[in-house]
Amino acid sequence: MSGDAARDLEGWIPRLITLWREQRAARTKGPRQPPPRGGRHFEEPPSPKLTPQEIKEVGAGIKRLSHGLTRERELAGAKYMDDPALLGAYLLFYWPVSYAQSRSLLSELPTRPRALLDLGSGPGPLAFAGIDAGASETIAADRSKPALELARQLAIASSESLGTREWSPERPLPEGKFDVITMGHVLNELFNGDIQKRADLVEKVLERVKPGGSLVVMEPALRDTSRALLQVRDVLVAKGYAVRAPCLFRGACPALVKPSDWCHAERQWRMPPLTEVLARTAGLHKESLKMSYLVLAPKGEAWAEPPPGRVLRIVSEALEGKGRQRFMGCGPEGRIGLAMQDKHRNAGNEKFFHLNRGEVIRIGGEVEAKGDGAGLSDRSTVEIVARAGQAVPKP
Ligand SMILES: C[S@@+](CC[C@H](N)C(=O)[O-])C[C@H]1O[C@@H](n2cnc3c(N)ncnc32)[C@H](O)[C@@H]1O
Repeated sequence: MSGDAARDLEGWIPRLITLWREQRAARTKGPRQPPPRGGRHFEEPPSPKLTPQEIKEVGAGIKRLSHGLTRERELAGAKYMDDPALLGAYLLFYWPVSYAQSRSLLSELPTRPRALLDLGSGPGPLAFAGIDAGASETIAADRSKPALELARQLAIASSESLGTREWSPERPLPEGKFDVITMGHVLNELFNGDIQKRADLVEKVLERVKPGGSLVVMEPALRDTSRALLQVRDVLVAKGYAVRAPCLFRGACPALVKPSDWCHAERQWRMPPLTEVLARTAGLHKESLKMSYLVLAPKGEAWAEPPPGRVLRIVSEALEGKGRQRFMGCGPEGRIGLAMQDKHRNAGNEKFFHLNRGEVIRIGGEVEAKGDGAGLSDRSTVEIVARAGQAVPKP
């Protein structure tokens, strides 16, 4: 995530805390606290940090959300945003994560969004990420009225303009066409797992994307939700839709061949102290941002030509072997293993030993075909074409 995005996110944290406290006070409607003894006649400004009691309370909500959305998944598709405690936990913990994930995906788009629609917005992390990335007309749409109300309150607190609409897949989409439409962590909650219905919805949504614009679909980096997204991708790719990112391969997704494979992204970020303390309390890890995503082009637009040479996106973490470094790469030729022995390391291929998931590389020189992969040696070269989260340059 860029420094600008990290600074923008820091600016949101006090607003999220203030709004959460207001919602909590309205919910508990406890008696007003008497003024402290000693006759202070002014109100102290609210602390920008959560108290230990507040952390405990939010942590319990995060645990319930995390369990329900990622482990047992009993909350997926349920109206958990209408439960004030869960909505509060979402606001303080998942909102900053989704915001940061979305900023890092928006930076990969070929154009800056002006008109943006955020479907399944919840309290609007992707909508506000779009606004901070330059969108001037933004609509957040969700079925949860309380979540949309929080998004409106955040718009007031930040003096940003945001439209809100109640929406669910059986209702018409908000009017108009958009440069960017975002769907953050919502597709996996729809249609009870029916891939065809999800693909039909995505196709309908793509009709509302302006020429040159993009639909950004982001999903949790879990094996099942990632594979389901890849299946939706395959339905659309078979119908001729182009993927702008992350795929360089234009055929059926090779990560679906083996049931144990999947594909997800990982981005580094400056974790806000609030996220750090809440993650620790709930026993979760958010040191890096992990998500699965697709950036789709509207109907009739061609796939971008890949950069010249043999290019591949790194789609695994470093897979260390005895005396050698390995990665999985996926490029116009498909998904292949890449390996190089430590003893072949030199100035021309050194970068291979420091690659990150999501980077696009060009391999050159002599590369040996090895089974279904490529063996690099001291006669191979490795260049970085695009960092994770950067648009792949046009040839
Ligand atoms: C995990 S939250 C994601 C919120 C936000 N987009 C983000 O990425 O952080 C999923 C959102 O999808 C919404 N949602 C779930 N099922 C829906 C449906 N059938 N129609 C409309 N929205 C739905 C929920 O209300 C919730 O706000």
